[in-house]
Amino acid sequence: MTQTGTSSSPVIDIKGLGLDRGAHLLLKRALAGLPVGQILGVRGSAPDLAVHLRGWCRSQGHEVIWPEPTGGLSVESAEQGSPLVACVVRGAAAGGRWRGAEAAGGTDPRAPGAVAEHPPARWGLAARGAVVEAGAPEYYFRLDSKAGVWADIVPRLYQQAAAAQWNPATAVDWGAPFELPPEVESAVVQVMTYLIENETAALLVPAKFLAQLHPHFREAMQLLSVQVADEARHVEVFTRRATLRRKEALGLSTVGGQQSLKTLFDEPDFTLASFLLSVLGEGSFLNLLWFLERYAPEPLTQQVARLAAQDEARHVAFGMGHLQYAIALDPTLKGRLASAAVRRHDALAQTAGLNEEVFDALVILAAGGWKTVAIAGGFEKVQTLKREMEADRGNRLIKLGFTSDEASVLSALHTRNFM
Ligand SMILES: [Fe+2]
Ligand SMILES: [Fe+2]
Repeated sequence: MTQTGTSSSPVIDIKGLGLDRGAHLLLKRALAGLPVGQILGVRGSAPDLAVHLRGWCRSQGHEVIWPEPTGGLSVESAEQGSPLVACVVRGAAAGGRWRGAEAAGGTDPRAPGAVAEHPPARWGLAARGAVVEAGAPEYYFRLDSKAGVWADIVPRLYQQAAAAQWNPATAVDWGAPFELPPEVESAVVQVMTYLIENETAALLVPAKFLAQLHPHFREAMQLLSVQVADEARHVEVFTRRATLRRKEALGLSTVGGQQSLKTLFDEPDFTLASFLLSVLGEGSFLNLLWFLERYAPEPLTQQVARLAAQDEARHVAFGMGHLQYAIALDPTLKGRLASAAVRRHDALAQTAGLNEEVFDALVILAAGGWKTVAIAGGFEKVQTLKREMEADRGNRLIKLGFTSDEASVLSALHTRNFM
């Protein structure tokens, strides 16, 4: 930009560059540095520049004064350069699409990145902190309340989850040698069959909520996405172990097991689903995976159980974090959680719970042999597993603020299918 000799009005010479070829960037930059009402002379030689300039200025909220009626405007200097095409008066409004636009939260300098309590539908897919042009389409996100989805731990949990991703192809020593009697291999395959079914529920439930979540809750969206990816890997490694030696049909998938999972799948409330799936179900699965890591008869099952348990601990932490956050805002939520646990128990009261094949398979794995004393020991270990599951569920419920009596009643109502 140059200054003319007799006035402070600046002049920009965009030479042969048209507004359709990038000259608007030079004009925007020149105008941005001027106070409102200041005149900018525009020189240029691109075809139809005057017409384009008029349209562009209208869209950006600037006024155009053509050279002819400006009389003594000093921008019409005798300086060498392109012809003077127009004088533009810097407008007061934010330019063009920025006019009437609204910050999508997260822009308060006192709380950078702050998450809004109720992000409106009109923020749509915009990045948190973006400026959303007026008139953007509204998206329907059913989960649009911070209290209904958030936990203070979410951003940190997402970072941990992203850093802890493991490769199923290399994290497990798939070539490790082992020999199992056929009936023990069958027990492993039955447990894997059961795990795959439960991991599938644990994948689909967060995936369903993920698509309903307002993306303003970015870290919750990211954490749920990684959780879905975690479950995809669990399905993969358990499937791979199940089919490693067994080429015919896998184990039994029972009516009772699927009925139990269906009550999770059909729960429409994110907070209640977090409670039933993550706090109670995945929490119980942690005990089961530790059990398998300890008692599995070969290293592959121990490894896949350990890897899955590391991820499950995060899923449980998200559930606990969300419920602690939501209960702190609304202590009456505890009553609704208790009702949800009772409802699920009543809905499953007539079902078989854990299938007999899975129970037997766990006993066989823990027994490590067919002597009477070994089977007795395996049976006792599975009873201990169930007691540990119930006690740990109770401890999580106490952490949520239930009394120990309430916690033991609710823990005992949890599905016999574990998840
Ligand atoms: Fe899982
Ligand atoms: Fe999980």
